[in-house]
Amino acid sequence: MHLVFDTFKLNRLLFSNKLICRKAVTANNIPTIRFARTDEKESVRQFLRKSFFKDEPCNKYMKLITEETPICEDLEKYTLKNFDSGLNLIAEHKNRIVGVCINSIIERDKPSNNILFTDKKFVIIANLLGYVEEKAALFQKYPKVSKIFDIRLLSVDNSYRGKGIAKAFCKKSIDIAKEQGAQLMSMICTSSFSASIAKKNGFEVVYELDYADYKINGEVVLKPEHPHKSIKMLVYSKL
Ligand code: ACO
Repeated sequence: MHLVFDTFKLNRLLFSNKLICRKAVTANNIPTIRFARTDEKESVRQFLRKSFFKDEPCNKYMKLITEETPICEDLEKYTLKNFDSGLNLIAEHKNRIVGVCINSIIERDKPSNNILFTDKKFVIIANLLGYVEEKAALFQKYPKVSKIFDIRLLSVDNSYRGKGIAKAFCKKSIDIAKEQGAQLMSMICTSSFSASIAKKNGFEVVYELDYADYKINGEVVLKPEHPHKSIKMLVYSKL
């Protein structure tokens, strides 16, 4: 796929650190958001190993990444499955990746290739994601929609959080979805923060499940920490 390079500055980004605020704002101290190149898959993987794979609420609860098991191959396969789509975004600061947004397109008549997962802990998360997709049944709910642009993953470096990077990813993804001719956008939010970011960008909740109600053999299997009470499917229908 033709890769379009796009760089735009997070000029609304407010650094709370007063020392940084006093400095003159130069291109070098504002993160930029741009398309990820397909040859950056390994750098993105390394970034996610230090962030999302450890700190996304379900991954964190399941302790998918520990000192003894620093890599979860199933999680990496799932997350980076469509990396070649050319639709992914990177936030970059001082030549370092500080945020990643993984996007993909889901087409009504092209069922995605299912991956067989074997990691017992990850299978629980993958099944929950599949369950939410099934319950939300977007192609049934929106019979005229043939192409959905899915924000699959949002991850921001811990020390860059709360500065609007995820919000900017969301906004930019809406623009890309329009350019791609998608009629709907979707996002499964396992985190209450990502759900609130999506809502502020015009997404609405079409399906919600409290983690406390997701049981296997009568037992609650995922108990992410407060305030992540539920998993939600959100859609943006104003493309
Ligand atoms: N605590 C309280 N509020 C928060 C937090 C937090 N840790 N993180 C974000 N917010 C709020 C902000 O206050 C802000 O709200 P406001 O506009 O009312 O002030 C809003 O969320 C937007 O914040 P951003 O600065 O745009 O978000 P950020 O760049 O910090 O990234 C993200 C948010 C991606 C959820 C980040 O916290 C992260 O990487 N978390 C770990 C991975 C994760 O959980 N990803 C989402 C999983 S679901 C999915 O990927 C689709």
